[in-house]
Amino acid sequence: MMLIAVLLSVASLCVAQSPRNTCDDPNFHSLETDESKRLACGPAFENRCFCHMTCYEGRNQHIVNCTDAGFRNTDPLEHLPNNTKVLIFTGNDLGELPWNVFGTLDALPELRVIDMSRNKIREIPGKTYHHVKHVEQLFLDHNELSLDDGKNHPRVFSNFVSLLELHLTDAFEDGAPVQLAKTLHEIFVNSNLTLLMKLHLEQNEISVFHDPNVFCDLPSLMHLYLSSNSLSTLHFNLTCLPKLQFLDLEKNNFTHVLERDLHTLDHLAKEKRSMTVDFSTNPFECGCKLNPFVRWMNKTKVIVRNKNYLRCNKSSSLQKFYEEKHCYSNLGASGYRGTTVALWLLSVLLVGLILALIYVQRVELRKKLEPVIDSVSKRVRYTSIATGETREMGV
Ligand SMILES: *[C@@H]1O[C@H](CO)[C@@H](O)[C@H](O)[C@H]1NC(C)=O
Ligand SMILES: *[C@@H]1O[C@H](CO)[C@@H](O)[C@H](O)[C@H]1NC(C)=O
Ligand SMILES: *[C@@H]1O[C@H](CO)[C@@H](O)[C@H](O)[C@H]1NC(C)=O
Ligand SMILES: *[C@@H]1O[C@H](CO)[C@@H](O)[C@H](O)[C@H]1NC(C)=O
Ligand SMILES: *[C@@H]1O[C@H](CO)[C@@H](O)[C@H](O)[C@H]1NC(C)=O
Ligand SMILES: *[C@@H]1O[C@H](CO)[C@@H](O)[C@H](O)[C@H]1NC(C)=O
Ligand SMILES: *[C@@H]1O[C@H](CO)[C@@H](O)[C@H](O)[C@H]1NC(C)=O
Repeated sequence: MMLIAVLLSVASLCVAQSPRNTCDDPNFHSLETDESKRLACGPAFENRCFCHMTCYEGRNQHIVNCTDAGFRNTDPLEHLPNNTKVLIFTGNDLGELPWNVFGTLDALPELRVIDMSRNKIREIPGKTYHHVKHVEQLFLDHNELSLDDGKNHPRVFSNFVSLLELHLTDAFEDGAPVQLAKTLHEIFVNSNLTLLMKLHLEQNEISVFHDPNVFCDLPSLMHLYLSSNSLSTLHFNLTCLPKLQFLDLEKNNFTHVLERDLHTLDHLAKEKRSMTVDFSTNPFECGCKLNPFVRWMNKTKVIVRNKNYLRCNKSSSLQKFYEEKHCYSNLGASGYRGTTVALWLLSVLLVGLILALIYVQRVELRKKLEPVIDSVSKRVRYTSIATGETREMGV
């Protein structure tokens, strides 16, 4: 029995690891040397790159790797080996990209991944990327894409009809946030990114999207990465993203979260199986304004990632989240103040009316009250005589 159990667990381990093992075939790389990998790229690559089959994202694929190769233009890319599946062309100094980076022939039927990060790219004309209809991942991180009108064509991604992941971390030059939102919207509207599932926009100094519908042309979007920006509210439309599952808002500028935004997030969780949001490392300020968020976290269906690590700033020290007591919400406070004022006015009015009544009826009142006052004063006198007597008797 023990033996069978052990065999079974070993078998299940093997099954669990099999996808990774396809990459780890030890005989696989034995015939290739650095020299042969360089030569495999062809003369256009000037021995600066490695072209070979390698394990990339869990699968063996033909890769062209030009990392920090020091090219000053994209000319070699017109001569990519026709079986290239992954292109890594990073750390070069490119400036403006030409038309038809991959040549005019549809010669790269296998190409799935393009990484052109860290290339100091400033301009991408609309006709740069052709013959990329099977590409699923595009990386343009850490470039200096211009936000000037006309420099980067809105149809820049229009041929990436199969794109699943778009990485634009720190991709844009520093500039007016208004311009960035406008540029992004024009790009998304004019592209056919209908399958896009992941969008990375970290480190772009975004504080506001003046166009709330900036992401609405990405109907398949599941993961939206906006960490390390300067957002303080969710003023962009999320209800138009029916598949959204994860919203990354780490390291932004939230001091509290508006109730309106909490409703928006709740709405997303209601319609979907699961919705996760990450608010880590925001400059939250302890106090009444944080209460709606603190209470919301306790009851919402939205998964708040790292919620036990959230901290707020209370007189310059960081504290665990807590509910601040003795607060009136803005609406409540003004309502309360209004009631107090009304009560005061009514009291003054009442006292005034009573005084007026007394004045008007003063003659009648005196007539009616005189006998009463008389009898009371008599009784007081009698009582004092009586007590005087008892006192005398007691002595
Ligand atoms: C590409 O080459 C660089 C060094 O030249 C290496 O560090 C990197 O791991 C390679 N990338 C892949 C995916 O093989
Ligand atoms: C690549 O080109 C060669 C000829 O240069 C051809 O024989 C081969 O079929 C092509 N492969 C693909 C995947 O198109
Ligand atoms: C998107 O692709 C469809 C067909 O796949 C095409 O009809 C449409 O014109 C394209 N839209 C844009 C903006 O390129
Ligand atoms: C958000 O998008 C939805 C669906 O497209 C639309 O009905 C709604 O009016 C939009 N909201 C705003 C504020 O634009
Ligand atoms: C962050 O928010 C504060 C106010 O809460 C504001 O003064 C500051 O300018 C904002 N920072 C950025 C980078 O937008
Ligand atoms: C959250 O709920 C738990 C129990 O349900 C309670 O002990 C805790 O005080 C609540 N915290 C807040 C901030 O409402
Ligand atoms: C906390 O807030 C004070 C101002 O109220 C500010 O001076 C301080 O830098 C903040 N501390 C942290 C850790 O954010």
